[in-house]
Amino acid sequence: MQFLWISLCLMKLMLKGRFVFKVFSAVDKVILIKENKTWEEALYYCRDHHHDLVTITNMDQQTLVQEKVKNASTDYVWTGLRYTCTLDFWFWVSDEVVSYTNWAEGEPMDDCDMSGAMETRGGHQWRKKNDLEEYNFLCTKD
Ligand SMILES: *[C@@H]1O[C@H](CO)[C@@H](O)[C@H](O)[C@H]1NC(C)=O
Ligand SMILES: *[C@@H]1O[C@H](CO)[C@@H](O)[C@H](O)[C@H]1NC(C)=O
Repeated sequence: MQFLWISLCLMKLMLKGRFVFKVFSAVDKVILIKENKTWEEALYYCRDHHHDLVTITNMDQQTLVQEKVKNASTDYVWTGLRYTCTLDFWFWVSDEVVSYTNWAEGEPMDDCDMSGAMETRGGHQWRKKNDLEEYNFLCTKD
């Protein structure tokens, strides 16, 4: 019985350790590109030069990314969040499931040709923006 309890504790620690590692490795894995591009240009830029447009799956990642966007030269910064009009749902280009969200009040309205951008200032909430707007963006590195 005691053995089982100790095993469970160890397992929890290991899981916690992995989680922390994941979060911290994300800090230096996100890079702000201070160029103004449409959402699609930003996606290709990230995929050509780094890894992908950024995915935010929890509040810790949101907090890390918020620090980076403070240096942006545009009011919004593109993320890897994309809306599919045909299927009527939002998804991350990295294939992660959209579970954590941080939409500003009143968002999202589901129009076509929309992608998710983060506010550079204020609460750093997410806004749906037309794909053809040109903003700075966040890439993940390998
Ligand atoms: C991007 O757009 C912002 C806002 O319009 C502007 O201040 C900035 O100089 C532009 N940056 C580049 C690299 O063109
Ligand atoms: C913002 O830019 C300044 C000057 O280029 C740099 O020193 C600082 O580290 C940057 N901050 C972040 C969070 O990247």
